[in-house]
Amino acid sequence: MSVTQHFDTTATDCPSSSKPDPAQVALVTGAAKRIGARISRHLHQRGLRVAIHCRHANEEAQQLAQELNSQRAHSALIVHSDLNDLNQLQQLPDQIIQHWGRLDILVNNASSFFPTPVGKVTATQWDDLFGSNVRGPFFLSQAAAPYLRQQQGALINIVDIHASKPLAEHSLYCMAKASLLMMTQSLAKELAPEVRVNAVAPGYILRPPDDFPDHIHDTIVQRTALKRQGDPQDIAQTVAFLALDAPFISGQVIAVDGGRSLHM
Ligand SMILES: NC(=O)c1ccc[n+]([C@@H]2O[C@H](COP(=O)([O-])OP(=O)(O)OC[C@H]3O[C@@H](n4cnc5c(N)ncnc54)[C@H](OP(=O)(O)O)[C@@H]3O)[C@@H](O)[C@H]2O)c1
Repeated sequence: MSVTQHFDTTATDCPSSSKPDPAQVALVTGAAKRIGARISRHLHQRGLRVAIHCRHANEEAQQLAQELNSQRAHSALIVHSDLNDLNQLQQLPDQIIQHWGRLDILVNNASSFFPTPVGKVTATQWDDLFGSNVRGPFFLSQAAAPYLRQQQGALINIVDIHASKPLAEHSLYCMAKASLLMMTQSLAKELAPEVRVNAVAPGYILRPPDDFPDHIHDTIVQRTALKRQGDPQDIAQTVAFLALDAPFISGQVIAVDGGRSLHM
C-alpha cells in the first residue's frame, strides 16, 4: 500500500485560512505510544505541529492525534510506514510538505529491540534490527534533508547508552545503534551549517513491552547512580532542548540515564 493511501487526513483538516501557519512541524517516528508519544506531546506543548508516525499502533496513534487536535485544531496528523519498506518511508517527508508546507524537525525514535544470542541469529533478525534502527532512519533522514535545510531545522536520533557499551545477548541491536550514533556525527558534518544533528541516548526508561523479569529491573536500578528508572518525559525534554533550545549544539550525544553509564 502506498504512503499516500496510508496518509491519514482524518486526524486533521486543512486549515481554512490561506495564511501560512508559522508553527514549526516535527515528524516523530514510532510516535503512537511509549517514549515516542511523550516526545510528540511535549513538542506539541512547545507549540509545534506534529506528524505522528506509526506502523501497527494505529489505534493509539488515532487517540493521540485526537488528543492533540482537540487542544489545537489542525496540529496533528498520522503517517504510516514500515521502516523496512524504503519506498513507503522515503515518501513521508513529501507527504508532510504537501499537507503542511514545511518540515523543521525529524526525530528518529522508532526501533525494534530483542535479544540475538550469538549462535541463533538469523538474517531476518539482522534485517529487522538494522532496518528499523539505522537503515530506515538513514533513508528517511536523506529524504527529509532538503526540507530540514530549507527551515534551518534539526534532526534528532534516539540511540541508546548501549550504542557504546554492549548489552549481553543484544549484539545486533547494539551494533545497529552504534551505526545510528555514527550517522548522527556524519550527518552533523554533512548537513551543516543548515541542519543541526544530535542524539539522545536513553538509559533505563521503560520496561520492554514483553516479559521483563523483576530481578533484571532491580539489578539495573541498583546499578544506576540515581537508583531509579527514568521517565519518558526525561527523553522528551532533552529532545525538545536539542531541537529548540540549543542553536550552537551539533554532532553531540546526550546520555539521559540517571548515571547508569557510570556503572557499566
Ligand atoms: N525503553 C527504554 O527504556 C529505552 C532504553 C534505551 C533506548 N531506548 C530507545 O528509545 C526509543 C523509544 O523506545 P521505546 O521503548 O518507547 O520504543 P518501542 O516501544 O520498543 O518502539 C517504538 C515504536 O517503534 C516502532 N517500530 C519498530 N519497528 C518498526 C518498523 N520496522 N517500522 C516502523 N516502526 C517500527 C513501533 O511502532 P508500531 O507500534 O506502530 O508498530 C513501536 O511502537 C527507541 O529508539 C529505543 O531504542 C529506549
